[in-house]
Amino acid sequence: MLPAVSRMAFGALQRRAFSASARDLSKVAVLGAAGGIGQPLSLLLKLNPRVTELALYDIRGGPGVAADISHVNTKSKVTGYEATPSGLASAVKGADVILIPAGVPRKPGMTRDDLFNTNASIVRDLAKACAESAPEANLLIIANPVNSTVPICAEVYKARGVYNPKRLFGVTTLDVVRASRFVSEVKSTDPKDENITVVGGHSGVTIVPLFSQSKHPELSSNAEIINRVQFGGDEVVKAKDGAGSATLSMAMAGARMAESVLRAAQGEKGIVEPTFVDSPLYKDQGIDFFASKVELGPNGVEKILPVGEVNAAEEKLIEACLADLKKNIAKGVSFVESNPGK
Ligand code: NAD
Ligand code: LMR
Repeated sequence: MLPAVSRMAFGALQRRAFSASARDLSKVAVLGAAGGIGQPLSLLLKLNPRVTELALYDIRGGPGVAADISHVNTKSKVTGYEATPSGLASAVKGADVILIPAGVPRKPGMTRDDLFNTNASIVRDLAKACAESAPEANLLIIANPVNSTVPICAEVYKARGVYNPKRLFGVTTLDVVRASRFVSEVKSTDPKDENITVVGGHSGVTIVPLFSQSKHPELSSNAEIINRVQFGGDEVVKAKDGAGSATLSMAMAGARMAESVLRAAQGEKGIVEPTFVDSPLYKDQGIDFFASKVELGPNGVEKILPVGEVNAAEEKLIEACLADLKKNIAKGVSFVESNPGK
């Protein structure tokens, strides 16, 4: 029998060990896991040692993708769920992070907004399942149009009284990944040394790179590279010629965002990612969501960083962005108002 003091010390140690391991156990769910993004994203998450449990759900093919990925020799457990309401509920239950790449991609000639009619209800219904079975999870939305699908999720959570704006993220990581890559091509540098802030939203003119804040302020008057960052997605849609949009680069970007959210959840400080969140920055103009640099923490959004100093040309880009963004956000909100679903 241990003396009382040792028993107390042992208990404290046990509690510490338990809380440390509880913190380090991370379940990540992917909804749309059998798709063009879902498969490589799930593979990258399987390779991430922070992920201890991987839950894969799709309306078709989830268990097959899970069986395949489960043979990769890393420690995490992989489960594929049946395409049923209870399969979906089990997939998300207990998740720390849920990524949603479920939805149709663009074909040449389409805008992201053209996907609204199909993807709005897909995202609404998946968000409902998340709000009901995993309201505390960090929800990372990849499905387009992100400028509208994120407000859709917010409305679904609000209707159930579980909305926590700190846990909802539109994934805009691909825009900064592209910006750093495109700049490195022009400047013959290593993209890892290029840190380009991109703010606004995730489509066309709502994507605003702020080169004046980078090592290459002169690029803020370079219409060609600004256009390439804003319309980089179209390059891939065109090259794939009807077979979809960016999947592999998006998988990398989604895995990076998930990794950042997990690092912050596990206590790491100073993690900053650009992401489209419920933001105070332009609320006075009726714009409730905006992408900017966000410091992540154990509770999701820790701090939304200001846009910072911009030059006159960038001021104009932000103006054009805000006009479109306002309409995209309102469209998502009014969709849920008129189509609350079951
Ligand atoms: P895809 O068609 O290859 O895959 C979509 C998957 O979603 C399919 O496997 C499909 O079965 C599944 N799905 C459809 N409805 C579902 C539902 N109700 N529940 C679960 N799964 C469902 O498409 P993709 O290329 O993977 O693109 C997916 C989405 O991501 C598109 O909307 C695309 O525009 C978007 N996207 C966003 C970004 C970004 O930067 N945020 C980048 C690239 C693509
Ligand atoms: C992208 O930026 O690549 C995605 O949003 C997909 C698209 O439709 O361009």
